[in-house]
This record gives sequence, structure tokens and C-alpha cells, in this order.
Amino acid sequence: MESTFEELNRANDEESSLRPQSLDEYVGQKELKENLRIFIQAAKNRNESLDHVLLYGPPGLGKTTMAYIIANELGSNIKITTGPSIEKSGDLAGILSSLEPGDVLFIDEIHRLPKQVEEVLYPAMEDYSIDIMVGKDSTSRSIRLDLPAFTLVGATTRAGDLSSPLRDRFGIKDKLNYYSTEELSQIVSRTSRVLNTTIDPEAVVEIAKRSRGTPRIANNLFKRVRDFAQVLNDGHISMEVTKHALERLKVDELGLDDVDIRYLKGIIERFHGGPVGLEAIASSISEETTTLEDVYEPYLLQIGFINRTPRGRVVTEKAYDHLKIDHNQGLF
Ligand SMILES: Nc1ncnc2c1ncn2[C@@H]1O[C@H](COP(=O)(O)OP(=O)(O)OP(=O)(O)O)[C@@H](O)[C@H]1O
Ligand SMILES: [Mg+2]
Repeated sequence: MESTFEELNRANDEESSLRPQSLDEYVGQKELKENLRIFIQAAKNRNESLDHVLLYGPPGLGKTTMAYIIANELGSNIKITTGPSIEKSGDLAGILSSLEPGDVLFIDEIHRLPKQVEEVLYPAMEDYSIDIMVGKDSTSRSIRLDLPAFTLVGATTRAGDLSSPLRDRFGIKDKLNYYSTEELSQIVSRTSRVLNTTIDPEAVVEIAKRSRGTPRIANNLFKRVRDFAQVLNDGHISMEVTKHALERLKVDELGLDDVDIRYLKGIIERFHGGPVGLEAIASSISEETTTLEDVYEPYLLQIGFINRTPRGRVVTEKAYDHLKIDHNQGLF
């Protein structure tokens, strides 16, 4: 019998085979990509490490993927960790002192680094050195340890939660934007090739349109539709099986899912369309405020379904139309 471990590994392999490996393969985010291309080339020409890079934006838009690509394009090794997993300054000191010259250190969810750990990072980023305390009590003193030149790549869904001293120490800061249907179509096509599946061109666009501008969602929808095609069809992803699958998955024409709909209807039905504070909405539909703020609201703002006002969230006319709810009379 196959162990769960092996199955997990295979899932991870599939996941990593879907990640583009180079800037050329990375779809979209044109400005970010072209700027990084210059910065990477310049650093390589000067034989220096690349300046620290902060990538921010909603989940699933390709921050982690880009961190790997940066290391690849630099021809460097990458070490990976996350903000919440570094609990003590000693943990970070350990990671930093294990770096080789030119390495990329990727810290995911960097906004969740504990404050005292963050302070160790300042001199490391600025002067490639850390101060560590040795000895106990009256004999304790701090010694300075030099580090090799390295590149820190930080990723966060909440740039606003980063302290300004930390934010200021990144020479390169870029926001990732939602992808166009055209770009997501390219990603879905690539995924179908990588996973050896045939798919109708219209089905590619249909999946792209319903992926809320997000590559991760596009790949997930693709995989679920593929399941339906495999079981209900001969494995080929036709337009028909795609529409059927998306309906079964409860993903509407704009890619809105159950939570989006409950969020919008919650504001409309319980708060007369707003304005209403995030906390109140969250508790009324039993969702976490951070999930709503990081995952759901950015896309609803992007497509103009909600506005943020000083007094809270307001549902727009466009959302009422989409939900087929009459603004004045409740349900049609
Ligand atoms: N520009 C892109 N071109 C092609 N595929 C992409 C691109 N960006 C992301 N993907 C695909 O989407 C998946 C999710 O991307 P990634 O893990 O990099 O997102 P993330 O921004 O780090 O998300 P999170 O904030 O949740 O960590 C990747 O595994 C990859 O397959
Ligand atoms: Mg990530």
C-alpha cells in the first residue's frame, strides 16, 4: 500500500511542476517582471547581491513563485521560512548565520514576525551583520557577527501591517495585481499541457473568467473540472463538462463563491446594504475578519461590488444587479 507520505509528495510535485521557473515563463505582472529583470541583471553584472525585495498582494497571485524565480535567475540558493515560525531572535540569528554569499532568504508572511525578531533583521538587512548576546547576567555582552551579502525576499498579504522601519529597508517593493482573463487563459493552457490534459479553447476562457483574477484559483478550478471530465467523460475537458462542473462547484459567472455571496447578502439583508463595520459583517456570517479582509474584500473592491467608506463597507448597485436583488424592494 502506498503511504500517505508518498501521496503527499506526489501532490507537492504536481504543485511545483505548475510553478513557472523563470521570468519568461511567469505570466503577467509585466512591470514587476521587467523591472526585476533589470535589477537582477545589474546586480549580477556588478557581482553584488540583489537588493532586498518586498512582494505584497492578495493570496495566490504568485508571490512565492516569484521568490523562487528570483533565486533561479540569480543562480542562487533559496532558504525558506515564515514570519510566525521564527519565535525567538536566536532562531533568526541561526538562519542568518547559515546563509552563503548571494543566497536568497525568503520570509513568507513577513508581517507576522515578532517585534524582537524584527529588530535582529534591521542590521542584517542594512549592514549584513547581527548583534548577538553571549554570556549570562553580569558577564553578558553583545558581539557583532558579520554575515555574507544576501537578498531578503519578503512576502505579505498585508503590507500595511509591516512596521515602517522594516518596510523602509526593502530597496525593491512591488504590489502584485489581479490577472486579466487573457493572462489567466495562458496559465490554464499551460497547466493543461503540464498535466497532460486536452481542453477546448472556450473551456480555457471559461475557467479563466471564473478565477477571480487569481492563478491559484485558476489551477484549482482546472483540477476540479478535470476530475469531472475524467469521471463523466473520456478525460477531455469540453465546454459542456466545464459548465456542468462549475455549476456543481457553485462558482458563478464572475467566480464568486459561497462566502462572497453570503458576505454581500449579509450586508444587504442585515445592514440595509451598509455602511457597516467589518467586525459586524464577519460575526453575522461567522467568518474571520482577516479572511474577509485579505481574501474576499480585495476582489469585491476590484470588481466594484463594494466600496470602503470611513463609516464602513457599502454594497454597490452593481452587486445588487448581479445578485438580482432590487435595491428598494428586497428580492425580485
Ligand atoms: N504569474 C504566474 N504564472 C503562472 N502561474 C502562476 C503565476 N503566479 C502564480 N501561479 C500559479 O499559482 C500558484 C499560486 O501562486 P503562489 O503560491 O506563488 O501565490 P502566493 O502569492 O505566494 O500566495 P499566498 O499569499 O497564499 O502565499 C502557483 O503554484 C503557480 O502554479
Ligand atoms: Mg505564498
